[in-house]
Amino acid sequence: MSIVVIGKSGQLSFELMRILGDNGVCLGRGDIDITQPQALAEKLDGIKPSAVINASAYTAVDKAETDEAAAALINTTGVQNLAAYCKQAGLFLVHVSTDYVFNGCKGSPYTVNDDIQPQGVYGKTKADGEKALLSLLPDASCLIRTAWVYSSHGNNFVKTMLRLMAEKPQLGVIDDQVGTPTWARGLAEACVFAAQTKTKGVFHWTDEGVCSWYDFALAIQELGIDKGLLQNAVPVNPIPSSQYPTPAKRPHYSVLDKTLTRETFSSLHLTHWRKQLSAMMDELKA
Ligand SMILES: NC(=O)c1ccc[n+]([C@@H]2O[C@H](COP(=O)([O-])OP(=O)(O)OC[C@H]3O[C@@H](n4cnc5c(N)ncnc54)[C@H](OP(=O)(O)O)[C@@H]3O)[C@@H](O)[C@H]2O)c1
Repeated sequence: MSIVVIGKSGQLSFELMRILGDNGVCLGRGDIDITQPQALAEKLDGIKPSAVINASAYTAVDKAETDEAAAALINTTGVQNLAAYCKQAGLFLVHVSTDYVFNGCKGSPYTVNDDIQPQGVYGKTKADGEKALLSLLPDASCLIRTAWVYSSHGNNFVKTMLRLMAEKPQLGVIDDQVGTPTWARGLAEACVFAAQTKTKGVFHWTDEGVCSWYDFALAIQELGIDKGLLQNAVPVNPIPSSQYPTPAKRPHYSVLDKTLTRETFSSLHLTHWRKQLSAMMDELKA
């Protein structure tokens, strides 16, 4: 029996399918509409999976501020529909959420039990999805919150920085937002482990360590030059968030506590973000 992955072109779904291979069935938005309970049930009834991993989400954080209905449809209603289906079908569901469910003011790592208080539409719709999942399927679900995800596939901060560093004479990067980057490969391994072992509960998965976007950008530049992905270093200047206004407010501090993850996912190795970045950039080079 296969594990169904909801999402096809996304960073996480790409890494999930690399791990699962023939043991996974990948359903993009052209294959399944998770906003329609009947259509969703017909599709999944036909596959009879052993578990479902939801890697789909409305992830355009700024666009969501003016597109709340579309964000809620996928991040809340879609999750609710998936959870309701899994409940009646007796299936285990792994779902991925975000650091943006927190308010970003704590100043020490957020534990899985901390109160959620999203600051923007994306965070609110994801938080509502979490609530729907946990109320419908508390005993047959794994909720994994993550942050700052990147992969060699898709659009993300690492690839944007590499492009801008090759094009611009200098860059300003925010230094007053702190979190932890996450290579989608490791996150995908955690999701597959949870689906295969039916590990239930709420967990946080990021890589190890802490940095600002500015620190992250400097590491991207250093490793990019070392690996021959960039020719020269350009000045990278730290700037406050106030100099880079965005429609959605970002959390200033969104480090996630992984104490429970280290215990429960002990067979998986949490790795420092810089090592993971280096591995992903080796892949980009190849
Ligand atoms: N990226 C980050 O920095 C970050 C940070 C924290 C948490 N997360 C969470 O991590 C998970 C994976 O994120 P990601 O970075 O892999 O996202 P992504 O690259 O933006 O991919 C989003 C996925 O969602 C699917 N999707 C979007 N709208 C859809 C719709 N209307 N109907 C069906 N499917 C739809 C896409 O489907 P198609 O394949 O069909 O296009 C795609 O596979 C998400 O739950 C996200 O909220 C991400």
